Amino acid sequence: MRSLFEPRAIAVIGASGNPEKIGYRIVENIVRSGYGGGVFPINPRGGEILGLKAYADLSDVEEEIDVAVIVIPAGAVLSAVEACGAARVKHLVVITSGFSEVGDLETERRIVRTAREHGMRVLGPNIFGIYSAASSLDATFGPGGITPGPVAIITQSGALGIAMIGKTATESVGLSALVSVGNKSDVDEADLLEYLASDERTRAILMYVEGVKDGERLQGTLAEVTRHKPVVVIKAGRSKRGSMAAASHTGSLAGADEVFDSVMRQAGVLRAESVQEAFSWVRYLASTPLPPGDEAVIVTNGGGIGVMATDACEKHGVLLYDDQAVLADTFSGVMPDFGSSKNPVDLTGQATAEDYARSLDAVLAEGRMHAAIALYCETALFDTGRFADLLRDVYARYRDRKPIVFSLFGGERIDAVIRDLRGEGIPVFGDVYEAVSALGALYRVRRRIREAPEEAEPIDLPIDEIRAVLRGARDGGRAFLLAPEAARVAAHLGLDMPRSIVARNLDEAVGAAGEIGYPVVMKIVSKDIVHKSDAGGVALDLENEEEIVDAYQAILRSCRAHVPDAAIEGVEVVEMVRSGVETIVGARQDPSFGPVVMFGLGGIYVEVMKDVSFRAAPIGRSTARAMISDLRSYPLLLGVRGESRKDIDAIAAVVSKLSHLIDRCREIADIEVNPLIVYDHGEGTRTVDMRILIKQPKGGERT
Ligand code: ACO
Repeated sequence: MRSLFEPRAIAVIGASGNPEKIGYRIVENIVRSGYGGGVFPINPRGGEILGLKAYADLSDVEEEIDVAVIVIPAGAVLSAVEACGAARVKHLVVITSGFSEVGDLETERRIVRTAREHGMRVLGPNIFGIYSAASSLDATFGPGGITPGPVAIITQSGALGIAMIGKTATESVGLSALVSVGNKSDVDEADLLEYLASDERTRAILMYVEGVKDGERLQGTLAEVTRHKPVVVIKAGRSKRGSMAAASHTGSLAGADEVFDSVMRQAGVLRAESVQEAFSWVRYLASTPLPPGDEAVIVTNGGGIGVMATDACEKHGVLLYDDQAVLADTFSGVMPDFGSSKNPVDLTGQATAEDYARSLDAVLAEGRMHAAIALYCETALFDTGRFADLLRDVYARYRDRKPIVFSLFGGERIDAVIRDLRGEGIPVFGDVYEAVSALGALYRVRRRIREAPEEAEPIDLPIDEIRAVLRGARDGGRAFLLAPEAARVAAHLGLDMPRSIVARNLDEAVGAAGEIGYPVVMKIVSKDIVHKSDAGGVALDLENEEEIVDAYQAILRSCRAHVPDAAIEGVEVVEMVRSGVETIVGARQDPSFGPVVMFGLGGIYVEVMKDVSFRAAPIGRSTARAMISDLRSYPLLLGVRGESRKDIDAIAAVVSKLSHLIDRCREIADIEVNPLIVYDHGEGTRTVDMRILIKQPKGGERT
């Protein structure tokens, strides 16, 4: 990737002398940005473009070209790619639209194939170009005037990306790189991240993503990059999708966005809700030292704004320093008697600019206080101009030592101060939530950088034996496992399933119940009925023969009414499992991220409660434990109202096993343990039901 960002020479195929054409604007930006390498406009007419000699054909250029920007109509691109291959170009930046985004996947694939045959990589097509501060190169058709700086942007949206150029200027965000990835026919975010991770100019990375192609690779790359540099992502499209939604709970809960969100969090990526928030984070993250510890101090001249900041700190995971004696000692000489040294430190409405300076210096000097949040509501006691100087002064002292955020609230004069200071790179915000959210992002980055990577746990699964069971179902032309097959897989996984016997008629059901011992559960066995409870195909806690008879008839009646054409093979009589907390563990092949695992509470109510979390698989037990603790209802597992703690380690073991299974057996489409009943700590779990869906072989393919 280095030669894409730092090319020695660049050709523009489709360069034009007509200022209304993109091919003109790109040459103009390259020239204006101060790029020091060779620039070779290619145009059949030859002549001169913007003072540069234009070549009628790429083969006329004698110098070695690292990057060819292609900006000619779609129909001519493939032959230009061939010409680039012959000229031993390294990278193609294909601006042209009109390929897979309008349905022409075939030509796009041919372009990539041809490029790869010649050892070239393709950025795009359907992009606005690339800017790289490393070589002062603006090869985009944006408005120009990009300020170099520490933030790299990768964007899938062209229009938004171009607009970001102007926005970075008004938001005082300096760029190390700006890359448009468009259709991602070849080069994708993961390729670019590998370069940006090692680029010293880049201190924070912002990605705008619409769809993910090779999610497994992206996740792996991000997980690595975020251990050194912050990555912020904005993703559009929170809408639900799911081709397998109807077939499983995991499927219907694994909306594209839920999985994206969890996987990004797992990879240590910060997800911003809006472009504004993303800009505010990257600007701050790229310019601020990591806090030396967890505890922050709020200094304010208004109680209300202090309370708002306190709320925001709780929301964004910023801890407030709480040793009252130290606080009183630190701030007693700095504020009036009627102020408060409790954190928020309230200097009161009569605070002067000097009071602020002294308080913030006190935070800076106190080793136990690790970051400052300075809030100011406009009052008549301040000379705004002098206040701005004072903030400059305070910031200069803080900038390399501790994080600080300023939030100023007031009228026109305050807005002007915010604009000026921001332009100078000082972290000043108009809104207190925005200020604390930036500091919260910095704390998350700190936690990520300090967190030890999960140790790989060897996990021994009898994959060959499990595959043999799956093959049996596939050979039978089924895309799912029958209950006894699923039970065999469960046994191979070491999951504790209740005893069960399949009965083909009422007599057999009565006999089976006698053999297993009352109480028992009875469930319908039919390949046409996936959600048994919904079809009335389950009866619980049957105590005697009479109840077996009644339940048997009721189940058959209800299932026939629910799914009239269902082929019913009988009923399964199962040992009644004692009650506990009902949970669900699922795993599936996600269309974007590959194997993912899910955990949730609620058993059959999981879809109502929607309290689930996901991770990219495989994961070890410690990640599984973190995933379990993500749930809103996690306190139920810790034990509430005198109940004892549940066996969280046993759940983590099941989650981890399923994650390894879905990773290693890619022929499994979806697997679900529901419910997984969890007992008190040390008493383990029981798998009441397990369903497995497998991928159907395509045209006789076997895995
Ligand atoms: N080699 C060299 N030069 C060539 C070749 C060739 N094989 N073929 C044509 N040219 C020249 C043309 O003669 C012309 O030069 P001229 O002005 O001197 O005559 C120049 O290349 C451009 O060719 P045109 O036919 O004039 O094409 P035009 O500039 O109208 O359009 C473009 C080309 C911009 C690539 C268009 O096809 C296109 O795809 N536009 C959309 C681009 C886009 O939006 N990309 C996504 C960006 S992200 C976003 O959404 C903002």
